[in-house]
Amino acid sequence: MDKLVIRGGRPLAGTLRVGGAKNAALPAMAACLLTADPVTLENIPDVRDIQTTRRLLETMGVATDAGAGRAKHRIGLHAEFILHPEAPYELVKTMRASTLVLGPLVARKGEARVSLPGGCAIGARPIDLHLKGLEALGAAITQDHGYVVARAGRLRGAHYRFDRITVTGTEDVLMAATLAEGETVLENCAQEPEVVDLAALLTKMGARIHGAGTPTITVQGVARLHGADHRIIPDRIEAGTFIVAGLITGGDVKVTHCEPRHLEALLVVLQQAGAQVSVGEDEVQVRGVERLRAVPVATAEYPGFATDLQAQYMALMTQAEGTAAITETIFENRFMHALELNRMGANIRLEGRRALVAGPTPLSGAAVLASDLRASASLVLAALAADGETIIDRIYHLDRGYEKLEEKLRAAGAAIRRVGDLIPARGAKAG
Ligand code: EPZ
Repeated sequence: MDKLVIRGGRPLAGTLRVGGAKNAALPAMAACLLTADPVTLENIPDVRDIQTTRRLLETMGVATDAGAGRAKHRIGLHAEFILHPEAPYELVKTMRASTLVLGPLVARKGEARVSLPGGCAIGARPIDLHLKGLEALGAAITQDHGYVVARAGRLRGAHYRFDRITVTGTEDVLMAATLAEGETVLENCAQEPEVVDLAALLTKMGARIHGAGTPTITVQGVARLHGADHRIIPDRIEAGTFIVAGLITGGDVKVTHCEPRHLEALLVVLQQAGAQVSVGEDEVQVRGVERLRAVPVATAEYPGFATDLQAQYMALMTQAEGTAAITETIFENRFMHALELNRMGANIRLEGRRALVAGPTPLSGAAVLASDLRASASLVLAALAADGETIIDRIYHLDRGYEKLEEKLRAAGAAIRRVGDLIPARGAKAG
């Protein structure tokens, strides 16, 4: 199992280039199921969740063609025939976003069999709101041996309000509605940029959608969708992670190929904390300052402070003057990184959904464990600021959503390297 070895204390300097948004690419790949024509997607990040989704689509009978070399961030998807409208447990258990195939399969094929995702490290993460939305469109949903089975004739447009805001729930039901008969009005929708990007792709495919990016989305169903080419938006979470990396190391970093508009909630808080941030058209320049001020944050659905940046922000607040109260309102168990940060010298007290980060505390390198994708990023950031060497184990979590993170950080001056098993697995030849 790969590990990252990081020697901290070196200010980052130079450029960190942002890739395509994993959480926009995943629904976009699922959208190819809605048409028998080929779909080409650009700016796709080369990360594990994308590889998992490509494998999942191939098991259904989708022809895929991932570019190589310079074209490696391009993927061609052709769902001319969907032979097996099923998402097996082996794949869904590694990536819950596989449930994004549910809506497209029911809409295109009239049937879908998708393994229930089960919980994950950050919470129970049910999909009840996805299922209620598809039932509202006329799908018959049953559960069978850990699988959700959905069947429908042609879906019918409906008026459906999400009980609570759900990003992939909005995306799943939106995709199904594009092929439903008549008008669908979806209320209390997620407004994330990834939802807007999906709607842009669907519109290029011939869907008739209004209101993406607002709480109410209206869809006029069409009989079929056609192929399209689409470039995925930049990854706002990778961009935010890089911005924090520049600040926590007291460096001078330009984060490029990003969309600053998608980072407003983070940038406002960082400016309140005293960070030097300058924003360009598609880049953000950050300079670490002597001392940041602690600023409280509560995560919220977009355009609020992203839950996917909470762990990274917590690492930064260990170096800020004062006590920052960080409230996680989206997931019930998203503070695992706090326990590992404390082992590195942080002073974080957990009170239910609130974490109180008292700073500044000097961090020292330690052997730590990654527990989920963004917690892993938080540990990398802390390690970059820590005195001495940190070894982060189970970084397969990180590889799900960050492409070559150690290479990008090394190019900006970090002392970071990836190592395989420090102790060769039993029976393996010692290297
Ligand atoms: C998306 O997950 C993202 N994943 C997550 O990013 C992100 O943390 C999350 O949105 C919140 O922004 C993708 O887009 C692939 P939700 P999603 O449905 O859609 C509850 C990362 O690090 N809920 O918006 O699964 C749920 O339990 C990942 O890249 C229900 O109760 O999140 C949670 O408490 C982690 N029933 C809340 O709603 C449902 O049917 C928000 O979840 C659906 C969700």
